[in-house]
Parts: sequence; C-alpha cells; structure tokens
Amino acid sequence: MSTGQTHILNNSSILITGGTGSFGTAFIHKLIKNYSPKRIVVFSRDELKQYEMAEKISHPNLRYFIGDVRDEDRLRRALNGIDIVIHAAALKQVPAAEYNPIECIKTNVIGAENIINAAIDTGVKRVIALSTDKAVNPMNLYGATKLCSDKLFVAGNNLSPIGGPIFSVVRYGNVVGSRGSVIPFFKERRSTGKLPITDPRMTRFWLTLAEGAAFVEKCVDLMRGGEVFIPKIPSMKITDLASAVAPECEQEIIGIRPGEKLHEIMIPSDEARNTREYKDFYVIQPAHHNWVDQVANKYENELGVPVAEDFAYSSDNNGEWYSAEQLKAVID
Ligand SMILES: NC(=O)c1ccc[n+]([C@@H]2O[C@H](COP(=O)([O-])OP(=O)(O)OC[C@H]3O[C@@H](n4cnc5c(N)ncnc54)[C@H](OP(=O)(O)O)[C@@H]3O)[C@@H](O)[C@H]2O)c1
Repeated sequence: MSTGQTHILNNSSILITGGTGSFGTAFIHKLIKNYSPKRIVVFSRDELKQYEMAEKISHPNLRYFIGDVRDEDRLRRALNGIDIVIHAAALKQVPAAEYNPIECIKTNVIGAENIINAAIDTGVKRVIALSTDKAVNPMNLYGATKLCSDKLFVAGNNLSPIGGPIFSVVRYGNVVGSRGSVIPFFKERRSTGKLPITDPRMTRFWLTLAEGAAFVEKCVDLMRGGEVFIPKIPSMKITDLASAVAPECEQEIIGIRPGEKLHEIMIPSDEARNTREYKDFYVIQPAHHNWVDQVANKYENELGVPVAEDFAYSSDNNGEWYSAEQLKAVID
C-alpha cells in the first residue's frame, strides 16, 4: 500500500465523524504516524470523549469539533475546507437500536443523508462511509439502518455534480475488542466461572482495529465512487473465542438473542453478479453505473475477476479461519 507523498491522505484536510470512537481513534493514530495531513478534524457529540482524546493525542493539525450528524447546518460548517470525510459515527448497539429504533434511524440514516448533502454543498472531494456485515440481509434495526446508509452513499454519486465528491463504502465484520464488543464482555464475566454463549454453532468475521483502519486507509486512496469495498478477513467460532479468553470457564448456552444471526454475510449471493474479486478484497460495484470498462475495474494495476454466479461470502463458508492460538494472540 502506498503511504508515500502520492497517497490521497497526504496534504489533505480530513474530517472523521465519530473520531473519538474505537475506529476513529485507531485511524487518527495511523494518519498522524503515516501521513502529513493539512488538518484532521474530529466530529462527535460528547465533549468528555473529545477532552480525553485530546489528553492522549496531541498534534498541531488536530482539531476537535462538537457536532451531531443529525444536524446538517453544523455539518456544513464543519466540512468547510475539508477534502476527505471518513464517516464512522453511528449508533451500533443492536439491543439499543431495537428498543429505540427511531434514534438509530436519525443517526445512521438521516445522518448519512446529511453528510452527503453537506459534502456536496461544501466541495468535499471524497467520502468513505463505514458499514458492517449486519447490513447484509438485515435481521435487526441496526443492520437495516446501515443498509439504508450504504444505499444512500452509493446513490450519493448520482447527486454529485461533475467534479463534486465521490462516495464509497467500506464494509467489514466484528472488530476485536472495540467498545461494547464480546471480548470485553467475556473478560468481565471471567470471574464468575461461566461464559454465556448464545449458540455454539455461531461464527463471525473478525478483524483487528489496526486492520480495519488500514483497509479504510487503502480504500480512500483507491475509490472511484460507488464501490462497496469488502476485505478478505478470517472467521472465528464464538466457542473458540470463549475458550481463548477464558479456557477455565464453563460455556453456558443461553439461546440466540432477538435480532442475532447464526452467521454473518458480507456479500449475499444476489450481489455476486456485481462483485469482483481482488487479491485482498472484494468490490461490489454499483449496478447502475457504467463500470464495464477495464480502467474502472483496475485497482493498483490489478484487474480483478468476476466472482462465480452462486458466490456468497459468509462467516461460515469462509476459507480462512482463526485458530485458537491466533485468537489468543489477538485478544491479549
Ligand atoms: N465495532 C465494530 O465491531 C464494527 C464492525 C463493523 C462496522 N463498524 C462500523 O464502524 C463505525 C465505527 O464504529 P466504532 O466501533 O468506532 O464505534 P464507537 O466506538 O461506538 O464510536 C462511535 C463514534 O460515533 C460518535 N457518534 C455517535 N453518534 C453520533 C452522532 N449522532 N453525531 C456525531 N457523532 C456521533 C461517538 O461519539 P459521541 O457519542 O461523542 O457522539 C463515537 O465517536 C460505525 O459506523 C460502525 O457501524 C463497527
């Protein structure tokens, strides 16, 4: 991956919505370490999280902007002079979204529309939005809002004038150890001697925060507008994870929770006809764009190949798996 002077993140002004979150913090560390951005702006609501982040990360070009993605005027103000937006702000807790659906819709769906409008109005060049495997064939409200968000960003390219912003999506699976994820939960329960397992057959896609941040870093440079980028990442069995976190604990089967799936899907078979495979990732191309010419299919000189008609990328049919030892290494 190019981190040299030619990378789009160099000499750009970059705003990260949800910059104080797990992803945002990891991404900003990378930005500061690997690039010379003109300006980095953290955009989020809670002043305490921003204060705590500012105590830990100081950089002369780093700014903190209080704002809510539900507030389009505030976004328009914040995006003034910004070249690149990484949209990571979201409400993402499945049970909270089931209980408070309209709040999740306002942040994840209306927020996405506000980003698109404000980016077009202020002359932003690129927007990349983070998505999740839960957006595919969604079973819960959180996933459904992220599917709407993905659709809005892909279609945002239709609203953009010539020379206006391009919009793409990065979709990936569970992030090891992110806020509210299963690892901190298992660690907390370790002292009770029992770990609750919803279903022993359950599998998930799994990547580290650093891997997620590196993939976004790569896609923001590669994007042409309209793609859903999906990294090739391993799967893990939830029972292997529980054994890796607390081998001494009994695994107590408590039954699948509302809105939960046994396995997650990153690319559904119905999208196979729009999907190309590259060495390290897949791209779902927008069905309504003219993407047939070879230049558009090429990333870093790699042309990629169309996937088989019946292809699906799901956490249970993955060719790559985390072993118990590898899981141990990433959770410590
Ligand atoms: N973690 C995962 O396993 C995972 C997997 C796949 C995809 N993703 C996606 O990756 C993105 C980042 O996830 P994350 O794990 O970094 O989440 P996170 O740690 O919960 O961070 C969320 C961030 O969004 C901000 N935020 C929430 N509501 C906001 C609003 N209305 N306006 C502005 N900022 C708002 C939060 O700050 P304030 O509360 O201060 O506003 C926080 O900075 C999300 O889009 C998520 O859907 C995550």
